[in-house]
Amino acid sequence: MRDRLEALKVEALRELEAAGNSQELLDLRVKYLGKKGPLTEILRGMGALSAEERPIIGQVANDVRQAIEQVLDAKQEEVQKQETAEKLKGETIDVSLPGRQSVPAGTEHPLSRVIREIEDIFTGMGYTVEEGPEVETDYYNFEAMNMPKNHSARDMQDTFYVTEELLMRTHTSPVQARTLKRLEGHVPVKIICPGKVYRRDEDDATHSHQFTQIEGLVVDKGIRMSDLKGTLLQFAKEMFGPNTRIRIRPSFFPFTEPSAEVDVSCMMCGGVGCRTCKGSGWIEILGSGMVHPNVLRMQGYDPEVYSGFAFGMGVERIAMLKYGIDDIRHFYTNDMRLLKQFSKL
Ligand code: PHE
Repeated sequence: MRDRLEALKVEALRELEAAGNSQELLDLRVKYLGKKGPLTEILRGMGALSAEERPIIGQVANDVRQAIEQVLDAKQEEVQKQETAEKLKGETIDVSLPGRQSVPAGTEHPLSRVIREIEDIFTGMGYTVEEGPEVETDYYNFEAMNMPKNHSARDMQDTFYVTEELLMRTHTSPVQARTLKRLEGHVPVKIICPGKVYRRDEDDATHSHQFTQIEGLVVDKGIRMSDLKGTLLQFAKEMFGPNTRIRIRPSFFPFTEPSAEVDVSCMMCGGVGCRTCKGSGWIEILGSGMVHPNVLRMQGYDPEVYSGFAFGMGVERIAMLKYGIDDIRHFYTNDMRLLKQFSKL
């Protein structure tokens, strides 16, 4: 009987050693320790033994049982650990793995991009960025800009009226007056203002009833025409390249005196003459001038004490020149083929 028990132990431990998963271990537990297992059977047969043999064999049987149980438990723990680790490994999500469906990424609109570039240049020179309403009063759009009612210069800008007194602003210049009013006579005033403007124009390759301007205004004591020139030259160099030159031509705006139109040397040919500059070597990019005394006075700035310069440029025109876009309508038709070209710039 002792031999049978020893053989049983050896056999059980060998099978346990070979077991690889928790199901196999469970089967072995039933096989060796279960009610119908060989150990139970041997213990049942102990009745036939003598009184001296019984405790000895009983002891051996218990030892065998304990040995099998011990190995079973240890093995059980080991296998369970392994299985848990494998399960976790299978459930890991690699969050850095690229998705299977590619989501098209948006790109910055060329107009937004040019506005941002111009803002960066001027904020770098200490300007702050202002905003004003697109639905504007007749007062700020015209009167405060030195164009009283019936002033002929109002015709320069065909206007969409909302009511007698309300209109879609035809330029960003009303923000000059709004800013001066808000600052209540304090200096320095040093702002730019990007925004949409509206004019009753027929849409074509170079005209749009809605377009974008950036206004600039500087007011302080002792501001001179040379400050305007220096500022715009610096801007032109940063915007179009370090070799850019500027040219100032006399012009007329009711809200500046003197007024000037500013050309930059053609960024396509460097000033030699080409199709873009129509052979002249120069390209007009903005209107400007010294702030008219009436504009200052109306907002409470004494023109005997303070002076300033202002400028206004069309953003579409600059973007068209910079990126070689030949039709202003491309900016508004949301053609993905145009927009996609700006994703890699
Ligand atoms: N407001 C003018 C325009 O719309 C541009 C301009 C702004 C001119 C400031 C001079 C000074 O054309």
